[in-house]
Amino acid sequence: MNKLEPRRLTREQAPAFARTMELCFGNVATEQDVAAIVAEDFEQDWAIGVHDGGDLVATACATPLELTLPAGPGRPFPVLGVAGVTCVGVLPTHRRRGLLRQMMAYQLAQFREREIPVAILTASESVIYGRFGYGLASSHQSLEIATRRSAFRELPYLALPGEGRVHIVGKDEAAKVLPSLHAEARVLRPGEIDRAEARWTGILDDPERHRHGTSARMYVVHEDATGKPDGYASYRFQYQADGPSRGHRVVVVEDIYSLVAPVQARLWRYLLDLDLVEELRTGARPVDETLRWMLADPRQLRTTGLGDMLWAKLVDIPAALSARGYAASTELVLEVRGAGERLGRYRLETGPGAADCRRAKAGEKTDLVLGLGDLAAVYLGGCRPSVQAAAGRVQEARPGALARADAAFTGPLAPFCGTHF
Ligand SMILES: CC(C)(COP(=O)(O)OP(=O)(O)OC[C@H]1O[C@@H](n2cnc3c(N)ncnc32)[C@H](O)[C@@H]1OP(=O)(O)O)[C@@H](O)C(=O)NCCC(=O)NCCS
Repeated sequence: MNKLEPRRLTREQAPAFARTMELCFGNVATEQDVAAIVAEDFEQDWAIGVHDGGDLVATACATPLELTLPAGPGRPFPVLGVAGVTCVGVLPTHRRRGLLRQMMAYQLAQFREREIPVAILTASESVIYGRFGYGLASSHQSLEIATRRSAFRELPYLALPGEGRVHIVGKDEAAKVLPSLHAEARVLRPGEIDRAEARWTGILDDPERHRHGTSARMYVVHEDATGKPDGYASYRFQYQADGPSRGHRVVVVEDIYSLVAPVQARLWRYLLDLDLVEELRTGARPVDETLRWMLADPRQLRTTGLGDMLWAKLVDIPAALSARGYAASTELVLEVRGAGERLGRYRLETGPGAADCRRAKAGEKTDLVLGLGDLAAVYLGGCRPSVQAAAGRVQEARPGALARADAAFTGPLAPFCGTHF
């Protein structure tokens, strides 16, 4: 009988990979979809699959990504090369027979062999990946506001840029301006990732299947007084036949990135002041979104969703913990537990400019006991260790350790990832 086990896929198998993966998500891929998935997601050295006879019945892939990590005070945000796990699927005919488990083990071996310190993913269901050592590393919220009630309060220390200009750009101009702007902006917040050229092509193509009944995507760019682009937003319109008034229109915000806070505020104002629009809705936004604090009537801004965004797995704990910056200097011995992993005790020393993490020595006392996924939950600063402790996930083994861990691990910005992969 044919043994069902994961193997590397060749480039010739890429179309089958795309079709099987889409079927796993309940979609029948068109030729156009297949071409887009192969271009965007099929990573030759990473794509794996399980065959049953001649049929591909399970898929998984990873893509090299740059992940922005928390920074020390006044320091630039470090960027770490990680693996972005994607295209995970098992056909309904072959589920709950351990194929995902096998693919996760195969991928972990790939990560170790290639010295990948951290793997990240976005999960279709939040129950799936905890068992494989992933933890909920960043969250997002979606927001909604009636635009007529969106006036700003007085913002005495935020001068909205008067000299620059906001202008609408078409797809071709967007293709020239947005990738480099995003590349500058994504290193200003932990949790953000880079967008490769193929990802941008996929975004800018704006295929019908990504529109979900909304208009084509529009782009607006802000330029400073010298003409240098320093922010952009992308958005769509949605007509609502059953809205409160005729022609009720919603503006649905996708990206909003800027290099400085006043430009971000200027872009929000542009979106909130659009004529013939009654409501603004956002896609994923950071959980510490500043808009709320700029509004004269903050109650009007409703959080319509709060969800998990990035799941992370620390494949190489010393390398992962040494790579990020910390908000405070301290020493902590972490006892990391988990089934079937090469875990143990690690000593982390954080300083103003650098951090060092190594295996703890016999005489060094444990400060905190936690699972691998719980370490991932605090890794990007998305959750304080003391919250994890209150939730019963982290144990304080030495008094005061939690407060020190909170101060070191949690920075001023909530992690956020504005890119689906
Ligand atoms: C999620 C999916 C890949 C799981 O594949 P699978 O081969 O059935 O998973 P396995 O049999 O290897 O399951 C491993 C473990 O995870 C559990 N599990 C897997 N999928 C689960 C789910 N959706 N909900 C709850 N538990 C799940 C299994 O019960 C099993 O638990 P156990 O170790 O305690 O026995 C598959 O159901 C699928 O393709 N779903 C639709 C597409 C999708 O959501 N892909 C994930 C994208 S992020």
